[in-house]
Amino acid sequence: MSTGAASPAELAVRFEAEAALVADRAAFEQLRLAWTGRKKGILRAMLAGMKEVAPQNRREYGQAVHQLKVAVEGGLEALGERLSAQEKADARQAATLDVTLPGRRPRLGSLHPVTVVNRDIEAIFAEMGYSVAEGPEVENDYHNFEALNFPRDHPARDTQDTFFVEGGALLRTHTSPVQIRTMLARAEPPIRIICPGRVYRNDNDLRHSPMFHQIEGLAIGEGLTVGDLKGTLETFIQRLFSADTGVRLRPSFFPFTEPSAEVDITCPFCAGSGESLDGGEPCGVCSATGWMEILGSGMVDPRVLAECGIDPEIYTGFAFGLGVDRVAMIRYGIPNIRMLFDNDERLLRQVQS
Ligand code: DAH
Repeated sequence: MSTGAASPAELAVRFEAEAALVADRAAFEQLRLAWTGRKKGILRAMLAGMKEVAPQNRREYGQAVHQLKVAVEGGLEALGERLSAQEKADARQAATLDVTLPGRRPRLGSLHPVTVVNRDIEAIFAEMGYSVAEGPEVENDYHNFEALNFPRDHPARDTQDTFFVEGGALLRTHTSPVQIRTMLARAEPPIRIICPGRVYRNDNDLRHSPMFHQIEGLAIGEGLTVGDLKGTLETFIQRLFSADTGVRLRPSFFPFTEPSAEVDITCPFCAGSGESLDGGEPCGVCSATGWMEILGSGMVDPRVLAECGIDPEIYTGFAFGLGVDRVAMIRYGIPNIRMLFDNDERLLRQVQS
């Protein structure tokens, strides 16, 4: 910085003016360097200027520069202390707690719709004397198909539906193999189990996802009939949905049950009328039929019982398989099964559990 032709006294005034403008540490450092810098500082330049002063004036000049030096150094020290005090005060201010602020409540998680439905179903069947059984998701052909009486060339074994695992294993395509494992493991009926779990099929659209959830049910005992099957399913469905839900059995076919039935319930969105409740429009949820299919069922085929070492002459039984995702979609009005597996918090948050 140049001193120009300013006298030490003028420079002292200039220093005061510049110091008065300093508001923060960076400006302070700039000021300090400009005045006391070893190479280019103004004080340094003033001392160097001694050479130019006529010898008889040097003493006076030297004293004036010394006074300037004292003034500048003193001024810098005072300014530095003021800044430090200010910085400490700022830091204290920033760290001050406002004890009147309301606390931030941690948001509690909620259960996944499939978990909620699973638990509800397990609770209903627990009251009816059923226990929960589980089995492996990586299965073999015997438990998933053969023991369930699927003929060797049955289309469900097709690579279209089944994910095969290297080495001959497969991802179970339904929870029915848990029936087989349970019967093989337990010596004597009565048996009453439900088997919740993940199942896998090579399928992917709005209603199908390659992984989905089923609950299998199995009851084996002496003298069980289609009437027991129907009564059990009606009780279950009316507890799961509502007491006025209609239930109908439609004849169907499954290799492991005879006779077999698909079970429909009255559409909860149009109360079975086929028309939307507000405007008389055709109900879009059940395609105006008034009914929705929610499970498959039947009387356990005697061949399956015999395969598992249970005498079909003494015992009969019924079984059913329910799509849990489908129930969750119906209950929460979820239009696309993939929404269940996207982990979008908005979907998860709306489920009260
Ligand atoms: N396993 C069948 C499926 O995944 C569902 C099913 C139908 C299970 C009838 C049963 C049954 O136990 O009796 O499509």
